[in-house]
Parts: sequence; structure tokens; C-alpha cells
Amino acid sequence: MTENPPPPSGKKRLFLRSWGCQMNVYDSARMADVLAPLGYAPVDAPEGADMIILNTCHIREKATEKLFSELGRLRQLKQAREAEGGEMVLAVAGCVAQAEGAEITARAPYVDIVLGPQSYHKLPEMVARAARTGRAVVETDFPVEEKFDFLPEVSAPQGITAFLTIQEGCDKFCSFCVVPYTRGAEYSRPVAAVLAEARKLVGQGAREITLLGQNVNAYHGAAEEGGEWGLAQLLRALAEIPGLDRLRYTTSHPRDMDEALIAAHRDIPAVMPFLHLPVQSGSDRVLAAMNRGHTAKEYLALVDRLRAARPDLALSTDIIVGHPGETEADHEATMALIRRVKFAQAFSFKYSPRPGTPAAGAPHRVDEATKDRRLQEVQALLRDQQAEFNASLTGRTVPVLFTGPGRQAGQLSGRTPWLQPVHVPGSLSLIGATAPVFIRAGNPNSLAGELAQQEKTAA
Ligand code: SAH
Ligand code: SF4
Ligand code: F3S
Repeated sequence: MTENPPPPSGKKRLFLRSWGCQMNVYDSARMADVLAPLGYAPVDAPEGADMIILNTCHIREKATEKLFSELGRLRQLKQAREAEGGEMVLAVAGCVAQAEGAEITARAPYVDIVLGPQSYHKLPEMVARAARTGRAVVETDFPVEEKFDFLPEVSAPQGITAFLTIQEGCDKFCSFCVVPYTRGAEYSRPVAAVLAEARKLVGQGAREITLLGQNVNAYHGAAEEGGEWGLAQLLRALAEIPGLDRLRYTTSHPRDMDEALIAAHRDIPAVMPFLHLPVQSGSDRVLAAMNRGHTAKEYLALVDRLRAARPDLALSTDIIVGHPGETEADHEATMALIRRVKFAQAFSFKYSPRPGTPAAGAPHRVDEATKDRRLQEVQALLRDQQAEFNASLTGRTVPVLFTGPGRQAGQLSGRTPWLQPVHVPGSLSLIGATAPVFIRAGNPNSLAGELAQQEKTAA
């Protein structure tokens, strides 16, 4: 059984669990920030917690059912706690909360708080209201601007690599996706707020920042001098912050990859040569059915332009197999696109219907066995490409940002510009620094290397 260490005396224990995208991880940290002034300190296990928040994701199949079975387990902890005369506030946050709302408290009446992603700044008030009334409190409104205005400044340090949400929501309405419904319309945080948060993160030790947004390259934040900045301009300003060595951003939509952003990859050394650029399918028919707004040829042309600007750029992507109407020829087109691009990394999924999305009601569903086979084919190809990419680094010397101790004593763990994890023998004093590393072995999932002699890399 997990033994939960007590929080600092007088503190209440907060157990937070996140599923889904990096934005949920970021949001969980912000919820902990909001609750800190109320005396809540994070703990690592749900047993004995004073408050539990489940930060849910709605992108995968059966998300709602999985939530209810998790809640069933937590109910027992809550009852045990109450039997001892204690209390446990149970809250459901995130995209399932947004999608299901009051349905959650109807099916699980022991849940105290249901809050959508735009309501996190209201948590303290909701905790008080739930305690006062003894009834469940549900908040699933959409005013994103408010959330950022009312959230306190980032307080808990994230470490050497940090995330910063700059944009939320999506207006693209891809046929299969719940995000426009759970996160609402697109909203970009003002430039000044982003720069201030970045400076704070760097002050806390961050050397690499990943800018987050469901459609991060659609960023158009209000500038102090009037007008709006796009992502490229924002990256330029961030790159000026002393101590901020590396910049990344995710997730991008091919349609919003403009000339200025491509040029940023060429001109700004801090912008890492790695880009997650979901394509979803290589078939124009399926891309149209998905409402992606571009063809396979346009995606490939974009990749060529990016690689012309930054020849060492590595690409990552998302693929969905078995979207309604996908034929064998469509699947072959996806395989052909993957072969042509050669991805360094990728995520691939079987299409699964999300209630309320256009594709969920579409005809010509692909049967499970076919989806399974297509997924296996796509994954085998992507796995080979990743292994090939990693192997191509063997024998090279590359800059590695050291992020923490490795698994074994005397070992450091770090990451390359292309996001691969690297294990290197070395002193812990290097954590936070970037140093040249000679890659001894490029394994399929990680790299092994050693600190390069200075003279080796002087050239
Ligand atoms: N904003 C990002 C995607 C966020 S969702 C973008 O535009 O690409 C992350 C990934 O989950 C998607 O890229 C897609 O590949 C996958 N996904 C989303 N909904 C899905 C569904 N209903 N079935 C299968 N995969 C899905
Ligand atoms: Fe979903 Fe499409 Fe928006 Fe990405 S662009 S979040 S896949 S609707
Ligand atoms: Fe999931 Fe919501 Fe992120 S559905 S992927 S947690 S935006």
C-alpha cells in the first residue's frame, strides 16, 4: 500500500491526477497554485487526501466510463475518510467535466465539484460554496479571458523544462475532434502576460520553455503597443530573455504555419529544430471529410519549405486510421505520405467516435479488424522511422540540455534539440546546462552518450 507522507504541518493534502494533453498538466499545476493560499499542498497518493482533483481528458474512447470507474474507487476512500470524522473534497475538472457537466453529479452524487477548463480560477470559491451548502457545485462556463486574468502568478517551479499556455481553444472543428466543444473558441493570451510568465519561469530555473495551445500557431495575442503579435514575433521576443536557451511550441495546425513562422525556424537559434505537425491522413478525400482544410500535397509542400529553412528539422505527427469512409486506397495514401516525410516521432490512433462531433454520425464506418490492421501497419512504419532517426545520431556530437539525474547513480538525463531523451555519465552540477554530447548509441526510444571533449566540438 502507498504510504502517503504527511504534508508540512497544518497543510491540507491535495491529490491531483491528470490525463490527456500537456495543457492539462499545465492546468493541474495552476490549480495547485490557486489552492496553495487555502493551505493545500500537493501529495503523491489519494489515500488520506483532503481534496482530490481528477483532471480529465475526453479525446480517447470510453473516457467517461473510465472516469466513473475511477470515481467509484475514490468514493470508498472518501467514505473511509468520513468514517474517521475527516473530510475529502472530490472534484472533477478538465474536458470530460466540460462535456458531461451536471451528468457527473447526477451519476456520482458524492462528487462535490465539477469544473470545466475555463473555471479553474474559481476553485477556491467553489470549495467554499460546496462546504457551505453541502451540495455539489458545477461550473462549466466558457470565458477563457477571465481564467487567465484571475489565476495567480505561476508559483511552483516546474524545473529545467517548463510549459507555458499561450493559447486555448479551437475554431477549426475537425470532424472527429471534441476540443472545440470542450475548450471553446480560440483565445490568445496577451503578449505582456506571456513574456512575464516566461521571465518568471526562467527566474525559477527553466532553460527550455514549450509554448502550449490546442492551435498554438494560430496565436494572435494583443500587444501592449496596440495590434496583435503572431507566434513568430512572440518567439523572437522570448528568445531575447537571458537564460532561456530553448523554445518549442505545440500543437500546430498545418494551415497556420505561415512564412513568418517558417522564417523563425531559420533565424532564431533558440527555436528547436523539432516540430509536431499533425497531418491525420495522407488522403485528400479523408482530409476533406475531416475538415482539415489542406491537401496531402499542400502538407508535403509545407514540409519542404520548412526543411529548406531549417535543414536539420525533425518532424513529428498525429495519424488517425479508420476515419468514416476511409478506403484501402486512402490508407495506402497515408502510408505513402509517411514514407515520403520520414517522421522522427509520431502518435497514431484508431478513429473512435466522440459524441456530438460530425464524424460520429457519418456513414461508412470502418470495421474494428480493418482499423486494427491499418493501425499496426502505420505504427510499424512509424516505429522504423523513429528507430532510423535515432540511429542516425550515432557517432555524432549534439548539444544536450541536462534536465535531471539519470536512472543510475552518476548518470544525467537530458534531451537533444530533437527531443530524444539521452543518458550520459556526468556530474549533477551540469543540470540546467547545455553541453556537447557524443552519441554512442541511438536506440529506438532513447540515446546513450558521453560528454564530448571540448576540443572535439571546438570546430
Ligand atoms: N490540436 C491538435 C490535436 C489535439 S487532439 C491538432 O489539431 O492536431 C490530439 C490528437 O488526437 C489528434 O491530432 C488526433 O490525431 C487524435 N484524435 C482526436 N480525436 C480523435 C478521435 N475521435 N479518434 C481518434 N483519434 C483522435
Ligand atoms: Fe481538434 Fe482539429 Fe482543433 Fe486540432 S485543429 S484541436 S484536431 S478541431
Ligand atoms: Fe484531452 Fe482536453 Fe487536452 S480532450 S487532449 S485534455 S484539450
